[in-house]
Amino acid sequence: MQMSRSSAIHVVSPESSRTLSRPLRQPAHGSASVLAEISAGLLAKAAHSSPKFLYDSLGSKLFEAICELPEYYPTRTEAAIFARHGADMAAAIGTGSAMIDLGAGNCAKAASLFPLLQPAQYVPVDISRDFLTEAVGRLQQRFPHIEMTALGLDFSNGFDLPASVRAARRLFFYPGSSIGNFSPEQATAFLRGLRANAGVDGGLLIGVDLIKDSTTLDAAYDDALGVTGAFNLNLLRHLNHLIGADFDVSQWQHRAFFNEQASRIEMYLEARSGLTVRWDGGERYFARGERIHTEDSYKYTQASFTGLLEQAGFATTRVWTDDAGWFAVIHAKAIRD
Ligand code: AVI
Repeated sequence: MQMSRSSAIHVVSPESSRTLSRPLRQPAHGSASVLAEISAGLLAKAAHSSPKFLYDSLGSKLFEAICELPEYYPTRTEAAIFARHGADMAAAIGTGSAMIDLGAGNCAKAASLFPLLQPAQYVPVDISRDFLTEAVGRLQQRFPHIEMTALGLDFSNGFDLPASVRAARRLFFYPGSSIGNFSPEQATAFLRGLRANAGVDGGLLIGVDLIKDSTTLDAAYDDALGVTGAFNLNLLRHLNHLIGADFDVSQWQHRAFFNEQASRIEMYLEARSGLTVRWDGGERYFARGERIHTEDSYKYTQASFTGLLEQAGFATTRVWTDDAGWFAVIHAKAIRD
C-alpha cells in the first residue's frame, strides 16, 4: 500500500461575497454589501440580479436536478467526452500535475480522472468549506498517494494561490461550462487571472458549451417538468431571505430563450401582474410583463472560444467534442510571456 504524502486539508476562508456565477453553494449572509448589491440590481432601469444568488441550498439541489433532465444535455455530454477521451487527455496533459479544481463541489468529476491523470497534488476550490472538507476527507482515503489541499474561497473575482499549492505543472480544471455564465469580457479577465497563477508550465482543462440549434438550447433552459423554472423562481425566495424582501413567487414566471445575436441563453423572471416589491430600505413597482434578468449562459464556437483563450494568454493544444459537436473539452497551455 502506498503511503499518504499528505493528508492535510488546508482551508482558506472566503474573504467576502463577490460577483459572477458558477454552481457553488452560497452561504447565507445578508450583509450590508449584499443588501446594497441586490438593491442596486432591483432598482436598475432593467432590473437584474447576480446569478450567484440562484445557489442557496435548495437552488444547489435544483441545479443538481437540472443536470439529470433529458433536455439539459451539457452534463451528460461532457461526462461522455471525459469517458471516451480521458486516456487521450491524460496522454496530452501528462501525469504528475497540481490539479486545481475550480468549483469542485463533491469533487466527483476530477476524481473520475485521477486514475488517468494521476495528479501529484489535488487542489479543490469551492466557496463551501464544510462541503469541501467532507468531500476531500473521503477522497483522501480512496487516493492516499495524492497530496490534497482544499481551498475554501470564492475564486470568481480573482485570487492568488497560496504557497501550499505546488508551483510546477499547475493544471486548472474548470468543467461544466460554467465559464458561459461570465460575459466574454468577464471570461477573458477570469482566464487572464488563471494564466497569472498558472506559471510558465501551467495549463487549463475546461468544458465549453457550443452553439447549436435554438430549439435544443431553448428546451435545455425551459424544460417540460419546470425544474429550471423552479430553480429560477427560487431566487426570489433566496432574495426574501437575504434582504427581507416580500416577493410572492406565484406572481412571477420563468422565461428563458436563446438570443442568437448575443450568442447566449438569457434567463428572466417576469411579473404576471402589476405589483410592488418591498425590501429592507427599498421598494419597486413592476408592471405586468416587466422582467428581472437573472442569468446569461454564453455559447461559443470552437474558434470563438480558442480566440478568447488566446487573448487571455493560453494556446489551445487539443479539443475533444461529442459526435454532434454540442460540447467541447479544451486543453490549453500557458503562453510564455
Ligand atoms: C452552471 N451553469 C453552467 C448552468 C448553465 O447551463 O449555464 C446554470 C444553469 N442555468 C439554468 N440551467 C442551468
